[in-house]
Amino acid sequence: MLTAEEIQEIETEAGHYPKREAVCIDALRIVQRHRGWVSDDSVHDIAEHLGMSDTDVDSIATFYNLIFRKPVGRHVVMVCDSVSCWIMDYDRVKKHLHERLGIEYGQTTSDERFTMLPIVCLGCCDHAPAMMVDRDLHSDLDPQKIDSALEKYK
Ligand code: FES
Repeated sequence: MLTAEEIQEIETEAGHYPKREAVCIDALRIVQRHRGWVSDDSVHDIAEHLGMSDTDVDSIATFYNLIFRKPVGRHVVMVCDSVSCWIMDYDRVKKHLHERLGIEYGQTTSDERFTMLPIVCLGCCDHAPAMMVDRDLHSDLDPQKIDSALEKYK
């Protein structure tokens, strides 16, 4: 069930669009911000609230790779897995993160601190390799920069 706060935020956003369906991605982001991820029940509740089918909402949720359909850790490390980063030592970045966090893509550390996911080009190819942690971009990565970046996220 959507909370009153979530409904209020969704309705505020809905006021910016001519059709209720158009606020779907905002609704998903709002629910994710409150709950950390978007469960099947949340998909259903959003669909019901917007007068859409569960399938339509789920197809939007799964299209956008920043909507998490499974539980994630307190922080999500998204590693750029595209061509400029491949050229600029992506393999070393991925290996270092794997060794440092002890997880593969799609997994969460046992203390639920980090989830690691691949993501397409982060738009800073001239500063590859790059990753995002939550909403923060980290570029020109090397193992030392990765370690120092991760320290900020508790
Ligand atoms: S390919 Fe990694 S930032 Fe563009």
